[in-house]
Amino acid sequence: MRTVDLIIKKRMGQALSKEEINFLIEGYTNDSIPDYQISALLMAICFQGLNADEQAHMAEAMLKSGDQIDLSKINGVKADKHSTGGVGDKTTLVVAPIVASLGIKLAKMSGRGLGHTGGTLDKLESIPGFRIEVSQEDFVKQVNDIGLALIGQSANITPADKKLYALRDVTGTVESIGLIATSIMSKKLASGADHIVLDVKVGRGAFMKDLENAQALAKAMVSIGTSHKRDTVCVLTSMEQPLGNAVGNRLEVIEAIETLKGNGPADFNELCRELSAEILLVSKVVKEKEEALSLVDKVIKDGSALEKFRQMVQYQGGNPDVVRNYSLMKEAKEKIDVKSPTSGYVSHIDAQAIGEASMIIGGGRLTKADQIDHSVGILLNKKVGDRVMEGETLATIITNGKNTEECYQKIINAYEFSKDEVKVSPIVLDIIK
Ligand code: URA
Repeated sequence: MRTVDLIIKKRMGQALSKEEINFLIEGYTNDSIPDYQISALLMAICFQGLNADEQAHMAEAMLKSGDQIDLSKINGVKADKHSTGGVGDKTTLVVAPIVASLGIKLAKMSGRGLGHTGGTLDKLESIPGFRIEVSQEDFVKQVNDIGLALIGQSANITPADKKLYALRDVTGTVESIGLIATSIMSKKLASGADHIVLDVKVGRGAFMKDLENAQALAKAMVSIGTSHKRDTVCVLTSMEQPLGNAVGNRLEVIEAIETLKGNGPADFNELCRELSAEILLVSKVVKEKEEALSLVDKVIKDGSALEKFRQMVQYQGGNPDVVRNYSLMKEAKEKIDVKSPTSGYVSHIDAQAIGEASMIIGGGRLTKADQIDHSVGILLNKKVGDRVMEGETLATIITNGKNTEECYQKIINAYEFSKDEVKVSPIVLDIIK
């Protein structure tokens, strides 16, 4: 087999076979095929696409390029959730304890934040002592004992994706449905769960800017999941503004705990209920959505979801009293209110700009090596649809003094206003199974 022939084949719009895809992915992973040939292949894929079989083969080849997590020693129904990344997205911190308190095993490896989006691990590390590095053996034991674990990724999962993603980033080939679907699904398949719920963010603040493309991506991912015998559901959700009111690690942990206590902001609370209910449905714990939602409401109301979160914090070395005493997490020194420059209705909040505003005060990292300040962040006081008067507080910056003025300006620029009342789009836009 010659790589150049396969590049030409794809450029001409023909489908690659399983053997051909394996040859390309293996060759690229072991450095026998150079970057320049794979760059040409990726560009051909961007123009010609990948059919469903090619996507399934490519996801499988990428999955087999590295370690696969063995969850066979975990008893019971094993589910996983994944989000394509949003600002203020702390859903894992709420959804994982909800479903675990309903008997589902959620063994999740999460990532760190980079750029304007936050990462679950960074949020959890706001809790002093919380360990995200856990051995595979302890991970399995913890999930068997309490039903959930949220840890960092130590295994060498999908090295082919790491190389391909880095190459796509610099060759203008990120935006391809087939490539995104295989990238995400190869990692999910390698993580070992049988039932997968994917939260695909849609909107100006997200990777997928419009619903049509997001639906195509969702269908591709469900098809890859199904071809690997994993029950997969995609929930398409709005990212026309940050999720919830809190952006920044410590603030997001507090908002997650408040949501587990039943006091979450409406959009965030609704998304957590929906995602949890979809996990119950895809895992076949219940048959009807109504039943799933009422179980979710029950474990919030009776405190058992909050208790699961507390158990997880304790198991992973953090102080479980954090659920009652937020001052156990280091607080930032200053609060600065951002005042509205006008009167009207909030029509849009640029989520990416808010994410960046939080990042520059220390809440996120620009490069992997940057240290983050868990205590800083932004609390949004006004959200899309809210009426606001000139001089009223739009948001509050919680800061230790770094880049505060730039942050203030970014927040002002992130808000758009309308003189007329604004209809708020629903948080869940579509569900694809
Ligand atoms: N997230 C991924 O993991 N891969 C992509 O290609 C895009 C988003």
